[in-house]
Amino acid sequence: MAVFSPSVRSALRFAVPLLAVLGLLAWGATMVVDATAQAWFERDVSLRAQLAVSGAREGIAAHVRSGDRRRLRALLEDIARDDRILAVEVCSTSLATLAATPGFPEDFGCARVGPQAQRASGEGGVAWRPVERTAHLRGGRTQVSALPLEDRGETLGLVVLVQDLSWADRRQGSTRQFTLLAFALVAAAGSVATFLVARFSWRRWTAEMRRFLRLSRSAPPDARDGARGKEFQPLLADVRDLVASLAQERDALEGGPWSPERLRQTLTRHLHGEGVIVVANREPYIHERAPDGSIRVAYPASGLVSALEPVMRACSGTWVAHGSGSADRATVDRHDRIRVPPGEESYAIHRVWLSPEEEQGYYYGFANEGLWPLCHVVHARPTFRIGDWEHYQRVNERFAEVTQGEAPGMDPIVLVQDYHFALLPRMLRERIPRATIIAFWHIPWPNAESFGICPWHRDLLRGLLGSSVVGFHTQAHCNNFLDAVDRYLEARIDRERQSVVLEGRETLVRPYPISVEWPSHRLASLPPVAECRRQVLEEHGLPPQTLLGVGVDRLDYTKGIEERLLAVERLLERFPEYRGRFTFVQLAAPSRTAIPRYRALGEAVEAAAERINQRFGAGSYRPVILHREHHGPDSVFRYYRAADLCYVSSLHDGMNLVAKEFVSARDDEKGVLLLSRFTGAARELAEALLVNPYDLEEASTAMAAALAMSKEEQGERMRALRAYVAEFNVYRWAGRMLVDAARLRQRERLTDRLAIGQGTLLEPGPGP
Ligand code: G6P
Repeated sequence: MAVFSPSVRSALRFAVPLLAVLGLLAWGATMVVDATAQAWFERDVSLRAQLAVSGAREGIAAHVRSGDRRRLRALLEDIARDDRILAVEVCSTSLATLAATPGFPEDFGCARVGPQAQRASGEGGVAWRPVERTAHLRGGRTQVSALPLEDRGETLGLVVLVQDLSWADRRQGSTRQFTLLAFALVAAAGSVATFLVARFSWRRWTAEMRRFLRLSRSAPPDARDGARGKEFQPLLADVRDLVASLAQERDALEGGPWSPERLRQTLTRHLHGEGVIVVANREPYIHERAPDGSIRVAYPASGLVSALEPVMRACSGTWVAHGSGSADRATVDRHDRIRVPPGEESYAIHRVWLSPEEEQGYYYGFANEGLWPLCHVVHARPTFRIGDWEHYQRVNERFAEVTQGEAPGMDPIVLVQDYHFALLPRMLRERIPRATIIAFWHIPWPNAESFGICPWHRDLLRGLLGSSVVGFHTQAHCNNFLDAVDRYLEARIDRERQSVVLEGRETLVRPYPISVEWPSHRLASLPPVAECRRQVLEEHGLPPQTLLGVGVDRLDYTKGIEERLLAVERLLERFPEYRGRFTFVQLAAPSRTAIPRYRALGEAVEAAAERINQRFGAGSYRPVILHREHHGPDSVFRYYRAADLCYVSSLHDGMNLVAKEFVSARDDEKGVLLLSRFTGAARELAEALLVNPYDLEEASTAMAAALAMSKEEQGERMRALRAYVAEFNVYRWAGRMLVDAARLRQRERLTDRLAIGQGTLLEPGPGP
């Protein structure tokens, strides 16, 4: 102790006994939790056994009475289809085996287990009682339940069920680990607090606190960020470490971080390797005919596509989409299908052909002039025309027909994507009643009042409620959806379960924040960051010391591209030191150009860039470089890697995957992300510089802070962002959704089986 300073010694005097007491408490609590969990799990298993037997009791009794062993055995096999029931046997009153599922373990047979279920009754007869015990079978724990088979006041024998307990053991193990972990966290937090209180006197601590609060109230946003960084860096780092260790803990329990391999394994385990059907308007590979007559493949600029494509590579199955390329028809087989990705074929696209009128009404009209502005709070007035609505209905019907044709069985899993297909889930439900349908809405869902602007709002809600699950990126959008259902439909809403029951069918409403593949497969073919930077600067004739900003978007009025350029202008006005040194490159992929609003935006952005260049350009220096053309994903990644900052300024966005792609591209752990608060991504990427893109003072201040940020701080922020995106990647998004779907399907199959069991019971059995 002599080696420690007095304040450390006094801190240790508190911390050591505290740790000892918490250690004892942790040990005691683990024992209690362990015993309770074990009792719960075993009771759960007993209840399952009783439920299985009572559900099938009448059927078993009928077959026992009729002596029809074949049907009796078939019924037992049906019961044993439940993953956790390993074997079932029926014994007569004289403890002879009447029927058993194949491989029923001899150790638990009628002659061994039966006597324990019998005891002498007062009248010299035999009384029966249920018996339960746990036993080891082939290295795993099982529970054996022998339940008397009662029928019309008579005992006909025993039903012996052997159930798997390994899942209960696994759950118990996790519960134990989490209890210990929780205590470890409390112990760590308690010791740190004790240590701090003793180390700094209370007065000094409160003075520090007051100083910090003064600073955070009065300082501009960039200074606030810096202050937050310095004052709370250790605390933030601790919290992150804890989150990371919890994530690792959970991964170890669940099977490692999410990857294509884990997604594949999940599909094999839960869906028995069956492929899924995705329905999305935009196809991932578009075949275009070049002017020289050759055919080339184009990759669309679509966040939805960049997220779902790696998932489909991992899952296989079919993607049903509008065939929009000029050479699309020339490349499909006679069923309108084509295997992709070119050269690495692992799934199929089924192309649906639309007439120009249908495309105009369904895609440009209802989807993009109606629903798109309706759902984004960007003050763009939606336009609703009856003709567009009719096309929208017809095209949804057509996709339903094609999807039904693609279904591999009676209960396929179908993932319906985005606002182009709000009616499709109900149409599919009518065609394939037992399908598990997940509708994922990639854009925001507005508040109930705004949603009511659409003349067909009730039809859209009913259409979506044909799904088993409706997914959004954020809880806020789930809440808006539930509010809209509450307001416009006669449906029952269960806020606790987050579900809607309409006409007797339940639809779950869940947030699944979408993400990007991790690690990005593009990185393997791209040069190192320094080389990407050199190439990009050279291609634009920029000197090596240039500070480079990038923006990557479809030319869409929700993306805030004009506001972004105005923020660059404001930066150059307020911070003249960046004139001549800072260049912002905007990649703007033309999009939906048949819609006047989009064409007008292209012109406005062009005009803004020109004006800023005239104002601040000098010699060969142009502060804004605008590329109004489509860039393939490799080219986009090169820009991400070359940049000092990336600015995502959406005025409203469901998620925004450019932000996550930028993070995934920066394996050098440098570069700063400026992110609009009005994106779904802002709720997750806390280490980005978050801005209100309408507030040009705040946005230009943040830009200046990003350009002046030290490499260390960039590294710290980028590492944290990368750790988050690595963990919450697109495989996790898809995996969670598909596991939920598989569970729902399993539950429905079980319900069906019980109903079928009840059905056989109702059937008149052969006479005695
Ligand atoms: C948004 C939509 C996607 C769409 C993408 C590109 O991200 O949510 O469904 O694919 O924009 O738009 P486009 O109309 O070209 O498919």
